[in-house]
Amino acid sequence: MPKPPATVVNEHRKLKAEIERHDRLYYAEDSPTISDTEYDRLFDRLLVIEKEYPRLITPDSPSQRVGAAPSARFEPVTHREPMLSLQKVTTIEEFNEFDRRVREGLEISTDVEYVTEPKLDGLAVELLYENGLLVTGSTRGDGVTGENVTPNLRTVRNIPLKLSDPASRTYPLLEVRGEVIMHRSAFVKLNRQLEQDNRAPLANPRNGAAGSLRQLDSNVTAGRPLVFYAYGISATTLTGLDGQSRVIEFLKNEGFLVNRLIRTVAGPSAVHRRFEELTQMRGDLDYDIDGMVVKVDQFAQQQLLGQISRAPRWAVAWKFAAETAETVIKSVIFSVGRTGVVTPVARLEPVKVSGVWVSSATLHNADNMTRLGVYIGAVATIWRAGDVIPEVVEIRDGGTGEKVEFPSKCPSCNEILERDEGEAAHRCKNPVCPAQLEGRLFHFASKGGFDIDGLGGKLAKQLIEQKLVKNPADLFSLTREQLLPLELMAEKRAQNLIDAIDRSKLTQLPKLTYALGIIGVGEAAARLLAEHFGSFDRLESGSIEELEQIPGIGPVIARNIRGFFDNDGNHRMLEIMHRTGVAFPVYQSGNRGKLTGKIFVITGTLSKPRNHFKNLIEKQGGRVTGSISSRTDFLLCGADAGSKLDKAKKLGVQIIDENGLVRLLPH
Ligand code: IVH
Repeated sequence: MPKPPATVVNEHRKLKAEIERHDRLYYAEDSPTISDTEYDRLFDRLLVIEKEYPRLITPDSPSQRVGAAPSARFEPVTHREPMLSLQKVTTIEEFNEFDRRVREGLEISTDVEYVTEPKLDGLAVELLYENGLLVTGSTRGDGVTGENVTPNLRTVRNIPLKLSDPASRTYPLLEVRGEVIMHRSAFVKLNRQLEQDNRAPLANPRNGAAGSLRQLDSNVTAGRPLVFYAYGISATTLTGLDGQSRVIEFLKNEGFLVNRLIRTVAGPSAVHRRFEELTQMRGDLDYDIDGMVVKVDQFAQQQLLGQISRAPRWAVAWKFAAETAETVIKSVIFSVGRTGVVTPVARLEPVKVSGVWVSSATLHNADNMTRLGVYIGAVATIWRAGDVIPEVVEIRDGGTGEKVEFPSKCPSCNEILERDEGEAAHRCKNPVCPAQLEGRLFHFASKGGFDIDGLGGKLAKQLIEQKLVKNPADLFSLTREQLLPLELMAEKRAQNLIDAIDRSKLTQLPKLTYALGIIGVGEAAARLLAEHFGSFDRLESGSIEELEQIPGIGPVIARNIRGFFDNDGNHRMLEIMHRTGVAFPVYQSGNRGKLTGKIFVITGTLSKPRNHFKNLIEKQGGRVTGSISSRTDFLLCGADAGSKLDKAKKLGVQIIDENGLVRLLPH
């Protein structure tokens, strides 16, 4: 074995410490200070050194931890009602369009009453109160399942452990939602303290709040200055609240802190004015806000509007324009995604944008590069689009460096790139392009897909380079002996991977559908497809017409799906999956009950809030939608029903009252 020179030993030691520090910042403190790409660069360098000088590989090297899942720190909590996300707008025109859709949905031309609220930039949580006492607190997680952080939330001093109103002892169930944040002044003080103690400072108040709440030791959380602002209720047995403004009043009375800048206003012009006011105030507040949430006030109206995919139609986040920063372009790389799209990415001199260090930013496509004029060494303006994805918006000064041109051939396989009519993207259409396959394999094994623990990007790359996998489905016939010669593959890791692959064969229909990587079919669409078709066989033979009729599946996605199943290569992939024992299960909605597959609409005045009935129906596997169509099975109808009742009669939808619903439920 070659003996490493002292300089390399030194570099290796520094890299180990550096990577460990970033691991800690990322996993333990939720405050990463470098981007994923930057982290990968450090890690890759470590691997290169260890490959050349294997004697440097010690059990404590971060390389020996590859594949260890850092998750599963907290118990999962399934939210009774999913915690939805919000549609976004950024301009007056876009907001007006939202307002227009709301009025169209409500079939009114008068001003809608909206509640406007600052969009707090912290961590969304849900608090469950039973008979007035706090029993569980959880994070939003992916909206469906969050983490149980009850002991930590109990340490947040302004969260009531007991509701204020004595009458609350009679509410069997009340779920309160809101945002946990850290005030700016408290954040600055805390960081000063951390620095004095020689500990890593937190990146920004949001990361401070998130990191503090997700501590395994609630004593640490207790020492952090967290504040909870309540902004809504979800599942509850409580009756009588008829709108968001009443909920805000109610929450105040029960002892919650609600934001004092919440206002109820009528019509779009008043909303514009409020947005202007908040924009002006933003810098002076002691907490970060990234926009304004606008919610239709009346619950009856919210109910009518319903939701699409995972966002309600009755609310919108009007975001502030993002912060920008200037930095130098060091180089440009062209990355090939799983669908063959080639994306130019600028590597940057690291710069802080909206509180986060950024070292690469997308240039989107060839036209955009031409428009910008990209040179090595140019000074560029960067922003984080939607405060997330860094993007080059402008070249301030081209400098004297070399001009960067978009390539004509695929950087991975050298195939000539093509550009389809009306599309901005250049694609590599080589069906066996290694870079695409790598992306597809990674997607196939990802959490939303087959969820194969330990199969990350680096391993995907090796499996393809070594020609062990030519098609994602080849994963299912890999053997331990094939894996062992790969880099960083010890006996145990190989066996774990084989076990994980084996376990993954028993999957669920939405995950299987998502894993296929059909363009436009993300997790939400995959779930809709599974719900609609119920089995893979039926999905596979669904016509374009049938696909298009599924709410949430547009004509383009419908065509992609049909095209996917009509393709020979994909047939082969499915055949291999069948042969290697992958399950093609029928759809099991989480809650199979007496009403599985039944679609309800609720209208009129009932004895309890609509959410009560919605919960009853959903517990039995039924679904509640906002408008009557030929697919509706039942209209649950209270007093003074209007146009929905007429429409239901016209379409022959079965009409039931509260007693009728009770008869449908299990006894
Ligand atoms: S309402 C369907 N109100 O924004 C209603 N959300 O995308 C969804 N947020 O992470 C939430 N301030 O935590 C609502 N006043 C506010 C909010 C707010 C911040 C966050 C929320 C979530 C995201 C929604």
